[in-house]
Amino acid sequence: MVHYKDLGLVNSRELFKKAMAGKYAIAAFNFNNMEQMQAIVAASVECKSPVILQVSSGARKYANQTLLRYMAQGAVEYAKELGLSVPIVLHLDHGDTFELCKSCIDMGFSSVMIDGSHHSYEENVALTKKVVEYAHRFDVTVEGELGVLAGVEDEVSAEHHTYTRPEEVEDFVSKTGVDSLAISIGTSHGANKFKPEQCTRNAEGVLVPPPLRFDILEEIEKRIPGFPIVLHGASSVPQDKVAIINKYGGALKDAIGIPEEQLRKAAKSAVCKINIDSDGRLAMTAAIREVFALQPAEFDPRKYLGPARDSLKELYKHKLTDVLGSANTVG
Ligand code: G3H
Ligand code: 13P
Ligand code: ZN
Repeated sequence: MVHYKDLGLVNSRELFKKAMAGKYAIAAFNFNNMEQMQAIVAASVECKSPVILQVSSGARKYANQTLLRYMAQGAVEYAKELGLSVPIVLHLDHGDTFELCKSCIDMGFSSVMIDGSHHSYEENVALTKKVVEYAHRFDVTVEGELGVLAGVEDEVSAEHHTYTRPEEVEDFVSKTGVDSLAISIGTSHGANKFKPEQCTRNAEGVLVPPPLRFDILEEIEKRIPGFPIVLHGASSVPQDKVAIINKYGGALKDAIGIPEEQLRKAAKSAVCKINIDSDGRLAMTAAIREVFALQPAEFDPRKYLGPARDSLKELYKHKLTDVLGSANTVG
């Protein structure tokens, strides 16, 4: 058993309290490898932002759970070396079983998500409660989920949203004891969040997706005032990155994300954590494709992973500063 405090990590409780009061959100960026971790930490230090390093079960399989844990510990030391000890949370993304959550807690995670949203309401309550009871023994914070996002959630995929039902949130939070709640108000996972036929065109001919259901968010806020809300599936799918990928041999079709103004608005509400993975994938892929296309004789991985890391860092800085509003909240 390794406790996260011994690794220099923090749980999300205080961060969410401050984010709620300061009307900003904490970024949760997924990571699977060293370059992503370096970009997240460097951006957070430069922006003076707290950050959540997020690990999916797919990432655990890909990178090895022990290595990821030491990388998170390394992230704490790396931030110090870069000049500012920004608070860092190591969070399990979309945990689907008690055993997975327990294993992460025992391995030094400071926060876990138990995603029971695909179960019946009663099963979701029971599973989430069980995880909370274990996690709280070690002061690990827990995120639950009510409502189902469209798109792919790890190995589970759903064709349609089931919006969170505001009338359930109070009961869910009080029965389970969760520390934060992920809700479904129109975001979805991946780079194809909407079909073009669901969108309208603005004066410049740009596709505009249907707005998030802020009415549902407001209703939830009324029922559980001051309770930290989480938005998954919050990538904006930057069209300049999509264009670079497609220019250099990619085949991304109908890639549409959540407009950043809507996330900015959400960050000022009870939304305290915003999850971004796909935008980072797009930034890395665009940078790597560009190097491959323009320098076809290059074969040193540092020559393409380096630019990918630089591009990621710029993207994260933009998110922290202009979208989530968490810049300059540390130190
Ligand atoms: O919500 C899913 C995250 O984007 C993680 O994706 O399961 O492919 O690592 P992954
Ligand atoms: P995106 O696919 O929109 O980046 O969402 C990531 C996410 O919700 C991770 O849990
Ligand atoms: Zn998610």
